[in-house]
Amino acid sequence: MTTNILLLGADGQVGWELRRSLLSVGRVTAITRQHCKLTDKAAVTALIASHNPDIIVNAVAYTAVDLAEDESEQAYALNRDLPTLLGELARQRDILLVDYSTDYVFDGSKKEPYFEHDQTAPANVYGTSKLAGLQALQASGCRYLVFRVSWVYSARRGNFIKTILRLAAERDALNIVSDQIGSPTPASLIGDVTANCLLLLAVGIGQTGVYHLAPTGQTSWHGLAQEIVRHGQALGMSFAIKPEAIQPIPASDYPTPAQRPANSVMNTDKLQRAFKLQLPHWQEPLAHLLQEISTRS
Ligand SMILES: NC(=O)c1ccc[n+]([C@@H]2O[C@H](COP(=O)([O-])OP(=O)(O)OC[C@H]3O[C@@H](n4cnc5c(N)ncnc54)[C@H](OP(=O)(O)O)[C@@H]3O)[C@@H](O)[C@H]2O)c1
Repeated sequence: MTTNILLLGADGQVGWELRRSLLSVGRVTAITRQHCKLTDKAAVTALIASHNPDIIVNAVAYTAVDLAEDESEQAYALNRDLPTLLGELARQRDILLVDYSTDYVFDGSKKEPYFEHDQTAPANVYGTSKLAGLQALQASGCRYLVFRVSWVYSARRGNFIKTILRLAAERDALNIVSDQIGSPTPASLIGDVTANCLLLLAVGIGQTGVYHLAPTGQTSWHGLAQEIVRHGQALGMSFAIKPEAIQPIPASDYPTPAQRPANSVMNTDKLQRAFKLQLPHWQEPLAHLLQEISTRS
């Protein structure tokens, strides 16, 4: 029997990759902003009733971290209220719910990589609203798979990699924060791991629950910017800047409306063990994306 998958947020960085990766899991109905007003409870309930999915994958989120400080109502509507409703509907209809959480549920003060069970303490509205959504989803009693991800990038939409590629072409000097660390995560990896885990769950391998998902290794925003320029140059991309001209600065020299964690590194042992996965080092998928971009331009 074909597995029916309802994918919400199909035009986002992660949603776009899920459109592709979930094709190996079942029949995917891709829902974008145009199909349904996701802040309208009745509309979402009707959407789920009419599609009657076996699996809902929710890649929708209010992700404008700084703007969320002033637009908390919108952030809560998408990051808390939508997962709350989806959790209730999933429990009532015995649907498996897949959702995505964030490193921003942690305050970043831990010196080691974060485990799934570590104390949450979000330091901004985005993280607080995402945590509220996760807690509501867990309290609903539905079957869920939640991947906690961080530092997401892809060839689509705005992200750090695309910003650095643009700035490196325009400027011969750049100051980039060096005291915040994480593991840059391609949306394609999130899509692939989601599909793999769903396929494995269907044959009795792995368990539902919350999992940290990130490549291995870690770097700072400064280290990542240098790697983008270094690798881009090696691929023949033309930049105004040299990697060594990218200067490290403390986050205190680059104030933003939302506070960000100093440590976003997540321990992924639980995911790798439960689903017998091997995650790549963060430099590998980055090199792949840069090569793709360089051959396109
Ligand atoms: N990006 C990161 O670095 C990062 C880090 C940690 C966790 N995450 C989590 O990963 C998941 C996927 O994030 P992403 O990077 O793919 O985000 P994204 O590219 O910003 O995509 C967000 C999606 O939500 C949709 N959306 C936003 N507001 C909406 C509204 N009012 N009505 C309907 N749809 C709306 C967007 O639709 P449109 O395409 O129409 O705008 C888009 O499809 C989210 O749960 C996010 O919290 C992301």
